[in-house]
Amino acid sequence: QKHLLGIEPLHPAEITAVLDLADQYVDLNRSEVKHSDALAGLTQINMFFENSTRTQASFELAGKRLGADVMNMAMQASSIKKGETLIDTALTLNAMHPDLLVVRHPHSGAVDLLAQKVNCAVLNAGDGRHEHPTQALLDALTIRRAKGRLHRLNIAICGDIAHSRVARSNLILLGKMENRVRLVGPPTLMPTQIDQFGVEVYHDMEEGLKDVDVVMMLRLQKERMDGGFIPSEREYYHRYGLDAEKLAVAKPDAIVMHPGPMNRGVEIDGTIADDINRSVIQEQVEMGVAVRMAAMDLLARNLRSARAGKEVMV
Ligand code: CP
Repeated sequence: QKHLLGIEPLHPAEITAVLDLADQYVDLNRSEVKHSDALAGLTQINMFFENSTRTQASFELAGKRLGADVMNMAMQASSIKKGETLIDTALTLNAMHPDLLVVRHPHSGAVDLLAQKVNCAVLNAGDGRHEHPTQALLDALTIRRAKGRLHRLNIAICGDIAHSRVARSNLILLGKMENRVRLVGPPTLMPTQIDQFGVEVYHDMEEGLKDVDVVMMLRLQKERMDGGFIPSEREYYHRYGLDAEKLAVAKPDAIVMHPGPMNRGVEIDGTIADDINRSVIQEQVEMGVAVRMAAMDLLARNLRSARAGKEVMV
């Protein structure tokens, strides 16, 4: 692949290759050294048009640990504020010869559009409701390490599915790896074209969580609700917030995940989120750095091969 724009175009073998390399980077990150030269000589620019803590920090750390020259664009202070378009901004940065562009944007499809205009590798750090591929990859790595496999698992994705790029990328990835995925949440927060994914849909948490291996909770994405129906947080927590009683119907060794940022007392009870016997939320953050290192390393190898090929042809 030239870019990482979504999970959709990835073959299961490519997903496995990213996770296998990421496992090696987990070991590196836990060592004293924490450094490799995989991206030495390359320039990475991070462009976040939407707020982020985990994704932005881990892409920056990943690039630095691999020896890249990393620049974080402060988009709020950029000429976007003076009316410059996304494409003109991208072309301007492209003229500075970056090798890797990491982009988060509030509009679905914006990162794909940008990738067509630049001649470097582009990584989608989340675009609107569309995809968040590195989140799905880090979730997959977390599951594989906790469960010892990434196939034939019963996985419940719960909450605001309709507005979630995390849910969409996870649905695609977990389906490709032959897991049984259930969606659990209120009818108003289910996507309209859910049939295309071939998943089971539940509107009751205790039915949806029965005997699952993995419970993946999602945040209510109020910023994407466009003035539509917004449930009351109290009512939502009562029916769909994960607490000990609802979790009790899952398998006794079921793990609890959340991509963050979390709203404690809305979609998840704080004691469940902090329960180190069930919650792998901090492991997800750790895997995020390793997966982003692996993704950028693999794209950089492809970039270097493509450039070497071009030089030979010239
Ligand atoms: N999971 C996730 O994308 O978190 P951030 O918005 O903090 O990057």
